[in-house]
Amino acid sequence: MKTKVAIIGSGPAGLLLGQLLHNQGIDNVIVENQSREHVLGRIRAGVLEQSTVDTLRQAKLGPRMDQEGLVHHGFEICFDNQSRRIPFSELTGGKIMMVYGQTEVTKDLMEARDAAGAATFYQAEQVQPHDFYSDNPRVTFIHDGERVALECDYIAGCDGFHGVCRQSVPKEAVTVYEHAYPFGWLGLLADTPPLSKEVIYNHHKDGFVLCSMRSHTRSRYYIQVPIDEDIKQWSADRFWERLKVMLPDDKAERLVTGPPLEMSIAPLRSFVAEPMRFGRLFLAGDAAHIVPPTGAKGLNLAAGDARALFEGLAAFYDKGTTELLDNYSQSSLQRVWQAERFSWWMTTLFHRLSDSAFELKAKLAEIDYLTSSRAGMTTVAENFVGLD
Ligand code: FAD
Ligand code: DHB
Repeated sequence: MKTKVAIIGSGPAGLLLGQLLHNQGIDNVIVENQSREHVLGRIRAGVLEQSTVDTLRQAKLGPRMDQEGLVHHGFEICFDNQSRRIPFSELTGGKIMMVYGQTEVTKDLMEARDAAGAATFYQAEQVQPHDFYSDNPRVTFIHDGERVALECDYIAGCDGFHGVCRQSVPKEAVTVYEHAYPFGWLGLLADTPPLSKEVIYNHHKDGFVLCSMRSHTRSRYYIQVPIDEDIKQWSADRFWERLKVMLPDDKAERLVTGPPLEMSIAPLRSFVAEPMRFGRLFLAGDAAHIVPPTGAKGLNLAAGDARALFEGLAAFYDKGTTELLDNYSQSSLQRVWQAERFSWWMTTLFHRLSDSAFELKAKLAEIDYLTSSRAGMTTVAENFVGLD
C-alpha cells in the first residue's frame, strides 16, 4: 500500500493534519492503535485559542463549532475569597477563546474524514515506523490479522506521549527536557449549569481549583490532589464538598451539584523532546511535548503543530520547496517553549507546592499584582489567548 503522508495516531494532531492535507488534495492514511469509540470517549481539553479556531475554520470544520461553541472574552481569577476578571479580548486587540470540547473537535474531524472517504486504520497492532532516515520510509502494522506495509514520502508521528514514533528514534538523536509535579488534577464532569459564564482559575491556600464548562448545561471542575491520590477515595459528594470549601463564599453558595458523568485523575507533566524532525519523520502534538493543563495549551499546541506541518508539506507538494519543512522543528519549538514557560509559571503560581507561609503570602501578592495592574493583566491575557 502507498500514500504520500502516513499519519500515526488519530488524536487532534493526526486528524487535523489529515483533514488539512485532504482538503489540499494530498493523499494520506491514518493508523491508530485504539478503536474509534475509545478515541472519542476520552474526556480531555475544553478550551480553544483563537488560532486553533481559525485553523478549524480553515479546515472547513467551523459550522458546528461556531453554532455550539461558547465564545469567551474574559476569565476570572479568584484568590483570598475575592474574584477579579481578566478581560483578555479587550487586552489583546479582540482575540477570543472558544469553549468547545476536544471530544467535539475529534467527532467533527472524524465525520469530515468519513465524508472525504480518506483511509483510517483503527485498532492497528504492532504499529512501527521504519527507514525514516532514507528516502523510502514505511509504516508497518497488523490490521484484521493481516500484515500491512504502508510506503510513503513522509511519516507524521501524532501518536501522543506514549506513542511509538519518538521511541523509534535513536536515543542519541533526541534531547529531552522534563519537569514532574508532585500533584495531579482530579476532574469531574456533570450535567449541571456552570458556576459562571466564564472559566474560573481559583487559588486557595490548600490548592488549585478550576471551574470550566462544556456547554450552558455541562460543567467541568478540577481540584489539585497529591500525585499518588487513589480515585477510589473520592465520591462525588466528597468532591463537591471539597470544591465548596475552596471557592470564595459567594461562588460556593451558587454552585449547583449533581451526579458525575466522569471522574478521573490526570498527572501533571512538562516535557519537550528536541528536535521535532528526524529525517522523514516529523513529531507533532503530545508525541513531542506535554504541558500541565493549567493554561489550556496542550490541544492548542497540537493544532499549531498540525498547521505548521501541513504548511510545510503543502509547500513541498505544491511548489517543490522544502524550506518550511526544514524550519518546522525550529519554528515549532519556539512556539512550544513559550507555551511550556506559561503553563509551568501558571501551574507554579496557582498550585500549593509546599507548607511555606512565605510562599503563600508571596503568591497572593503576585496574583494581586497580576489582576490589578494593566501591565500584569495584559501579560496574563496575551499568554492565555496564545502568542503570535
Ligand atoms: P493524543 O490526543 O494523545 O492522540 C494520540 C493518538 O495516538 C491517540 O489516539 C493514541 O491512541 C494514538 N496512539 C498512541 N500510540 C500509538 C501507536 N503505537 N500506534 C498508533 N496510534 C497510537 N489539554 C488541555 O489543553 N486541557 C485539558 O484539560 C487537558 N486535559 C487532559 C487530560 C488528560 C488525561 C490527558 C492525557 C491530556 C489532557 N490535555 C489537556 C492535553 C490534550 O488533551 C492533549 O494535548 C491533546 O490530546 C494532544 O493531541 P495529540 O493528537 O497530540 O495526542
Ligand atoms: C480546561 C479549561 C482550562 O482553562 C484549562 O486550563 C484546562 C482545562 C477544561 O475545560 O477542561
